[in-house]
Amino acid sequence: MKKKIWIGTNWKMTKTIAEGLDFTHELKKIAEAISPNIQLFIIPSHTSLFPIKEVISGSTIYLGAQNMHWEDSGAYTGEISPRMLDEIGIDMIELGHSERRQYYNETDEAINKKILAALEYSIKPLICIGENIEQKNNLISKETLSAQLKVCLKGLSKEQAKQVVIAYEPVWAIGEQGIPAEVEYVEEIHDFLRQTLIGLFDDTGMEIPVLYGGSVNHDNFLNYINLENVNGLFVGRAAWEIDSFQKILYQLESHLFD
Ligand code: PGA
Repeated sequence: MKKKIWIGTNWKMTKTIAEGLDFTHELKKIAEAISPNIQLFIIPSHTSLFPIKEVISGSTIYLGAQNMHWEDSGAYTGEISPRMLDEIGIDMIELGHSERRQYYNETDEAINKKILAALEYSIKPLICIGENIEQKNNLISKETLSAQLKVCLKGLSKEQAKQVVIAYEPVWAIGEQGIPAEVEYVEEIHDFLRQTLIGLFDDTGMEIPVLYGGSVNHDNFLNYINLENVNGLFVGRAAWEIDSFQKILYQLESHLFD
């Protein structure tokens, strides 16, 4: 049986404050009812972080933000700093989602700076990596992922590495146009990622949670979570309605812990 399962959702640019609060009140009730071995997290838009933090304070749900700058302060119009997010009291920061890489040219080097900045504030980096369809078709998925991990995690000590969470999200599997990945493929890649993390951090590489994401839904999530090196799930659309997320969570709990 797995020690701890991570499961959460990034709302992307979808929910208003009111919508986010409705969801969060319901999720809080679910969190009280399910096993503490399931670590829930939600990643709202920046505008919702403060009111949602007030609601989930005292619960086991982790709160994350979708992006931040690496500097504490400065002339960076439109950006949010780790110092500002720390003031709200967030637990996690999502970094390197493929949409940020694709639409805002976010690089592994920039993500590395953001990771180091987050760790200064004890904010847990949730680092997204994934190959695109060309890389997969050219059979360079593993090379791509290994390079992303090495650059993103450059300069981290083993102690710091224990604080990070990795999310493997193949770009071709994400979103409305996404194609859910074959279970065998996910297994092969997660085994490879585990070996890569061990190569970087020795035994500490065993302790880093690696989540799977990309068109995860009710029909496929158990196949992914059953894999040895999958420590959790990062869910998008299938978790944006509380009823749909609840269905996944209760099914997950009865599958894992009954
Ligand atoms: P999806 O999103 O589950 O809707 O494909 C996943 C993600 O972007 O993290």
